[in-house]
Amino acid sequence: MRKKIIAGNWKMNYCVNKAESFVSEIKDTINTDEVDVVICPNLVSLDRVSDLIDGTNIKLGAQNVYFEDKGAYTGETSVDMLAAVGVNYCIVGHSERRQYFNETDEIVNKKAKKLLEKDIAPIVCVGETLEERENDKMFEVVERQVRASLDGIEKESMNKKVVIAYEPIWAIGTGKTATAEQANEMCKFIRDVVSKMYDEETAENVRIQYGGSVKPSNANEILNMSDIDGALVGGASLTNDFVAIVNY
Ligand code: 13P
Repeated sequence: MRKKIIAGNWKMNYCVNKAESFVSEIKDTINTDEVDVVICPNLVSLDRVSDLIDGTNIKLGAQNVYFEDKGAYTGETSVDMLAAVGVNYCIVGHSERRQYFNETDEIVNKKAKKLLEKDIAPIVCVGETLEERENDKMFEVVERQVRASLDGIEKESMNKKVVIAYEPIWAIGTGKTATAEQANEMCKFIRDVVSKMYDEETAENVRIQYGGSVKPSNANEILNMSDIDGALVGGASLTNDFVAIVNY
């Protein structure tokens, strides 16, 4: 039985004081062991949020990382730096990073592997554009992303650590959600790709989230689908809506 994982991706929102007050306000209501709850604040707030959630079941997630260990990479953050402030998960390959910061599947793959070296679980994002869906290219695109992003990752890591997030780009921040059936169909497809790349057991173990306009009104239906193991929540993770989603 796969445990659901619900992560809040705050994106570039909330300065450290607001991060602190918001987490203090909601933490007791999202502190559960029924689902894995992950908060992904901005880099600057990671350390403070880490202190605040210490002693709870809530996990800390980062939104990005660099794949080199250290050195002259101005502005970048290493896996060790994330580990040192208690980061457990890190989002890689979010479509906004692919779109605005030219992240390729190859870069996503290097980041995921580097995170796994230090025992941080990558949340690997994949998803098609509206145009790709309208041209019936979505399965081809997502399969390519999954294969390239996971290339060379060991089976043990896949079974224990890696999380995949299916986020159709046309549903992000648009209010337009994929139907639960569309989301489930793609998550099932991704599981089949994992089965072909690894084996059936690995495919059964890997957790696959859906992301894109998840809100309290659709969380229950989405999270009850057979192949959807959680949600990656953007806008709704910035308000009390996150509490309702966690308690779906
Ligand atoms: P929204 O929930 O705001 O659509 O964002 C989804 C997302 O990109 C989460 O990573």
